[in-house]
Order: sequence, then C-alpha cells, then structure tokens
Amino acid sequence: MGRGLLIVFEGCDRSGKTTQSTRLVQALNDAGVRARLVKFPDRTTAIGAMIDAYLRQKTQLSDQAVHLLFSANRWEAMAQMRADLESGTTLVVDRYTFSGVAFSAAKRMDLKWCKAPDVGLAAPDRVFFLDIHPDDAAKRAGYGDEIYEKREMQIEVRVKFFSLMDKSWSIVDALRDPDEIHRQIMALTNRALERHNADPTPIGKLWT
Ligand code: TMP
Repeated sequence: MGRGLLIVFEGCDRSGKTTQSTRLVQALNDAGVRARLVKFPDRTTAIGAMIDAYLRQKTQLSDQAVHLLFSANRWEAMAQMRADLESGTTLVVDRYTFSGVAFSAAKRMDLKWCKAPDVGLAAPDRVFFLDIHPDDAAKRAGYGDEIYEKREMQIEVRVKFFSLMDKSWSIVDALRDPDEIHRQIMALTNRALERHNADPTPIGKLWT
C-alpha cells in the first residue's frame, strides 16, 4: 500500500471550497479510495478557538500573533496528517499554508516572514484553486460575517494566491455549476492518483 495524496483546496472566501472538498472525499470513498477531510483553521482545538474569536471579531490580536496561531493550528495537526498519509489515506485539505501566506501578505506583511513558520509542513501533491472574483463571491449567502470578508482585502488576497502558484496548482472556474466543477476536480484527482501510483514520490516539505 503506497502513501496517500495530499490534496489542497484554496480560494477566496465563499468560493465553494467546503462544498467541493466534502464532495471529493465522498466520491473518493465511494470509489474505494480511503480519504479524509481536513479543514483549516480547525476551530475545535484550543488554538482554533482563539482564531475563531479573532475571525468573529470577539477578540483583537496583532497581525503577527494571529498569523502564528494559524500556523500553529496546522502544526498541531501535522503528526496525524503524516501518519494518515503514510498509511495510505488521501487527505483533502480545505485551506492550508497558502491561505496563511496570502491573507497575511495581503495585509502588507513580509512574504518571507509569512512563509517561515510553515517551513517543513507536508507539501501538497495537488492544489485546486477555486477561482471566483470577490464581487461574485459577495453575492453568495453568508458573505460578510467575518473579519476578512471585505472587498478590498479579498481582491488583494486573490492577487497573492496567484503569486504563490506553481505547477502543482490547477485553476478551477468556481462560477460554474457545482456538478461540473466536481467532475473536473474528480478527473484531475484521478489523474494525480494514477500518476502517483505509476511513479510514487515521498511526501515533500513546504517552502524549501
Ligand atoms: P474559513 O472561512 O475557511 O473557515 O477561513 C476563515 C478565514 O481565515 C478566512 O477568511 C481565511 C482566513 N485564514 C487565514 O487568514 N490564515 C490561514 O492560515 C487560514 C487557514 C485561513
């Protein structure tokens, strides 16, 4: 049994990441591929509760402090994630280090500083970027409740995401019908699984 793949969904707020990542896990499990959903921030931990209070504007934190909490929230999940990957479970991750870097860099924080705390996290095999213009996202239900759901911020975040892309990313047009998006993501995932089975590679490390 080879290792599982680390598949990441990224995108601006309200781009459909949660819907699509949940559907992907379900479809993989239905097809007999062991897969588990991971979501960042994980608001269920003590660190996650601090992040949640900040996002819902119940507490204030400096930009640096909240950035480090987001990173710590990934590190506290890393041992279990690595164990799952090594034992053959594919992880589908709803937001990861790229959100960490893009959101903080959008606040004009130094890019190198933003990446540093995440150096050494497991590197994704594929990243699906659900692309939607913030003006279209703003029309979706629930938009505007949290601290970063503001037009100027989201436009800047989208620019930062584009600057972080490499060949492991696929840009997915998130304005289309959800079924169509799911089919495209499933096809891309199957291709990644086939490629990995034919030529397995070890889990990479981030930002190195
Ligand atoms: P969520 O809506 O996916 O739960 O994400 C909550 C917000 O937190 C969203 O606006 C993106 C932001 N965020 C960061 O600023 N840094 C991070 O590292 C992560 C994972 C999310």
